[in-house]
Amino acid sequence: MTAATIRVRNLQKSYDDLQVLRGVDFDVAQGSIFALLGSNGAGKTTVVKILSTLLAADAGTAEVNGFDVADSGQDVRESISLTGQFAAVDEILSGRENLALVAQLRHLKHAGQIADELLARFSLTEAGDRRASTYSGGMRRRLDIAMSLIGDPPVIFLDEPTTGLDPQARKEVWRTVEELAKNGTTVLLTTQYLDEAEQLADRIAILHQGRIIVDGTLSELKQLLPPAKVEYVEKQPSLEDVFLALVGDNGGADGSSDSAAVHRTADAER
Ligand SMILES: Nc1ncnc2c1ncn2[C@@H]1O[C@H](COP(=O)(O)OP(=O)(O)OP(=O)(O)O)[C@@H](O)[C@H]1O
Ligand SMILES: [Mg+2]
Repeated sequence: MTAATIRVRNLQKSYDDLQVLRGVDFDVAQGSIFALLGSNGAGKTTVVKILSTLLAADAGTAEVNGFDVADSGQDVRESISLTGQFAAVDEILSGRENLALVAQLRHLKHAGQIADELLARFSLTEAGDRRASTYSGGMRRRLDIAMSLIGDPPVIFLDEPTTGLDPQARKEVWRTVEELAKNGTTVLLTTQYLDEAEQLADRIAILHQGRIIVDGTLSELKQLLPPAKVEYVEKQPSLEDVFLALVGDNGGADGSSDSAAVHRTADAER
């Protein structure tokens, strides 16, 4: 069993009266890809912000790469990179300049060479000398992810890494993420795309009403629902079926009985 690179225990966070995290627990194994799913407003970005030390939790603990986020913020920040939900690209600079700037900020030699390699890897070489303000949404996203890879941090947080990308660009990002994990990088990603979690993640957790209501491999999650029978042909539930049964079609503002029923099944099987 690989040691957990990310350990989250009883994490709680409120914004004024709004209790967003009510006791969140999960582990992410080293070199694995962990997908955090949840409806809009479930608290995914809040979790990512706490783990990347941008926000303090009200209660609970979180460790990243062996460092406590509350006590050892600097060590955590040196261990991670974060690609936020909204791109951190400087519009006035070219793609190459954006990359070289990050390399310089990370005190790396050969910043120009690093920039050129990443431009090539993300199919941005031709656009490399153009201002980022002229890039399409997908190009900007790719540049943003490329910037987060500089310095090879052991832990990467990707908050909705492929939102707004076309299918080809999404696959490119997926390949990059898979490659990172293969080389030992631990990846925590949030996504709205269930097929993205299905495709990429070693483990999938669903955040709902402030807690992780399920956490497992794709096949473990699929076992939570019986296969639907259609004229003697068994249909395996997709991750989308599982998600909607747990969270509810309406985004799940209410405590739906479906989710309780499936959760009980999950507990019983443990
Ligand atoms: N700084 C803040 N002040 C007040 N409320 C906030 C703040 N940040 C987030 N919230 C609220 O907390 C809840 C969780 O927000 P969060 O951004 O973590 O959700 P999310 O799961 O990332 O959603 P999305 O899928 O839309 O990105 C939402 O209801 C949001 O409106
Ligand atoms: Mg978010």
